[in-house]
Amino acid sequence: MGRAKKVVLAYSGGVDTSVCIPYLKKEWGVEEVITLAADLGQGEELKPIQEKALKSGALESLVIDGKEAFVKNYAFPAIQANALYENRYPLLTALARPLIAKMLVEAAEKYGADAVAHGCTGKGNDQVRFDVGILALNPHLKVLAPAREWGMSREETIAYGEKFGIPSPVKKSSPYSIDRNLLGRSIEAGPLEDPMIEPDEEVFVMTRAIADTPDEPEYLEIGFEKGIPVSLNGNGLDPVTLITQLNEIVGKHGVGRIDMIENRVVGIKSREIYESPALLVLIDAHRDLESLTLTGDLTQYKRGIEETYSHLIYKGLWYSPLKEALDAFIKTTQEQVTGVVRIKLFKGSAKIVGRRSENSIYAPDLATYGADDKFDHKAAEGFIYIWGLPTKVWSLKHKGL
Ligand code: ARG
Repeated sequence: MGRAKKVVLAYSGGVDTSVCIPYLKKEWGVEEVITLAADLGQGEELKPIQEKALKSGALESLVIDGKEAFVKNYAFPAIQANALYENRYPLLTALARPLIAKMLVEAAEKYGADAVAHGCTGKGNDQVRFDVGILALNPHLKVLAPAREWGMSREETIAYGEKFGIPSPVKKSSPYSIDRNLLGRSIEAGPLEDPMIEPDEEVFVMTRAIADTPDEPEYLEIGFEKGIPVSLNGNGLDPVTLITQLNEIVGKHGVGRIDMIENRVVGIKSREIYESPALLVLIDAHRDLESLTLTGDLTQYKRGIEETYSHLIYKGLWYSPLKEALDAFIKTTQEQVTGVVRIKLFKGSAKIVGRRSENSIYAPDLATYGADDKFDHKAAEGFIYIWGLPTKVWSLKHKGL
């Protein structure tokens, strides 16, 4: 009796997920393996990957285009939530996992599989996101994670694969572990494991080095509707095109790099390099538009929600009831977040230099220091008397005044 009869395996085309195919069949007695490669804009040819899966012993090899769903249903809600894990990481990898989990579960249901599988090891965050995402969507499915259990080194994995006709990587494999999709790139390991070592310029592909950026600033207007980015410089764009174009424009000016030590779900710290040009600028612009259109108490309260929301995304709880409840809150807050944010890109910086909205609650006649000031200065006196009263009473009592 094997661990499962029919398995849908999340497939990237790399050595690890390829080795999973014979491993599941030979070591764990799985009868049929169906692979699923999700196209989330990693800019890779998926046709060869599809064929590689079949050559490695998959019964069927699925390729699913998830780009639009990824941006609309995962990235956009995160932008509305201004989601930055530990105030910095825009969650580009974390956001892809619940979508892949959903694809795996749907394929398992369609093909009558009793399990799904992935190639994550036991040390990362992604295993948590896959496992919890899958069990949330279909608690009856088994989740198999061969690489979490097989205990093979890199060399042993390659050797195992060769026995089953899986070619070892042609080019000398890079020392880095890289995850990439439409929203950006996550780079770790190799020399980056020393937190003091500056990342080599070669790790970046979406963002230019400052030395290579244009010598003239570029202005950019991003339009939002109910908290969702819909246009660049007045041109309405579909979600995937908008992100693609924005990555290009922003990356050209060297904006979007992050270098941080982050706290993983499994308790270890890791050094991570990210480049995520579009997403970072969108979150910044979106937050700015909120400051023009929402009341102070609402934005301040929302900050706390955003923090929780970011943790839920990072920690694999995308399909949890708390996340769903927070979605309802965030949706309500976005009703008026429509307008345009103007950004100046120059030499590695993206500065917000203007914003406008038909829903703006910035009141010039109250804010002005000019002659047409409508603010009632006299009213401030009474307000301050009452506002400061408890503090005054305290001081009288305890400071011997
Ligand atoms: N630390 C990030 C996260 O947990 C990125 C992990 C990406 N994986 C990789 N192989 N580089 O979301």
